[in-house]
Amino acid sequence: MTDRRGIGIIGGVREMQEFSNGLRKEGKTIAFVPTMGALHEGHLSLMREGKRHGDVLVASVFVNPAQFGRNEDFNSYARDTDGDLRKMESAGVDIAFFPRADEIYPPGYETYVEVTELGKPLCGRFRPGHFRGVATVVLKLFNIVKPDTALFGQKDYQQLQIIRKMVSDLNLEVDIIGMPIVREESGLAMSSRNSYLSPEEREKAACLSLALRRIKKSFDEGERDSLALLREGYDVLAGASIGEVDYLEIRDGETLGDKAAASPGDVAALAVRIGNARLIDNTVL
Ligand code: PAJ
Repeated sequence: MTDRRGIGIIGGVREMQEFSNGLRKEGKTIAFVPTMGALHEGHLSLMREGKRHGDVLVASVFVNPAQFGRNEDFNSYARDTDGDLRKMESAGVDIAFFPRADEIYPPGYETYVEVTELGKPLCGRFRPGHFRGVATVVLKLFNIVKPDTALFGQKDYQQLQIIRKMVSDLNLEVDIIGMPIVREESGLAMSSRNSYLSPEEREKAACLSLALRRIKKSFDEGERDSLALLREGYDVLAGASIGEVDYLEIRDGETLGDKAAASPGDVAALAVRIGNARLIDNTVL
């Protein structure tokens, strides 16, 4: 482990495992926040909360090749190790774990985890293999970091449900905490991918959260017909003349099943392409 400005940095998988084994032997609890870096306030909110859930807070930065499709942004995904370290330290992270891709996926690697049904709708339809890559890396990170508690954002709503299901199905002893979406003043959900937006596109991107707020307002006023609710959302998106809408749907908050009539706890979720960015957002009704 190297120490820099009071934060411990670990790069090796074996070293991380041994460090965690040592902590557990001492009876210490571990809270964990996995990320792909290019950290922003959304990530940092998870870390600050994580501080309250374990004696030691570990955060990882790993741009996971297994969750990017061939035509997606793996190569252009923002990377900022120095900035990330500074932010992690300010958020109270004790150990920053930066595994290398060739150690996570050595030559000949062939084991993958798939949460079959939850991975199909919404983003699963547009990003085949994405959630298989997410579930696989999260399980591997859990086995390496050995956390008692792990924190994930509701920003990636489907991902959170998939991880909860994986933990339950595979009897993992990790408490999963879901954290609220952190937004910019415009309402735009913070995302590492917002850096792909031009100032003009960023302004337009506020319509994502606006569309979801419109749906939620209408739901709160008593509208239950999913199609009617979605039409209101589509009207907002159309008004902003953005690129392609991958989906805008209302689904059961847990099973992500179809809902013709919306009920409390359902989720309205969308994915939209603006310029070079594919942005997602959601709201729980
Ligand atoms: P990444 O997109 O870096 O996000 C890391 C964590 O931060 C996720 O749990 C995500 O939901 C949360 N997060 C991102 N933006 C947020 C926001 N605006 N408000 C609240 N939380 C937010 O999600 C991943 O990385 C990867 O798929 C990962 C789980 C690390 C597996 O590779």
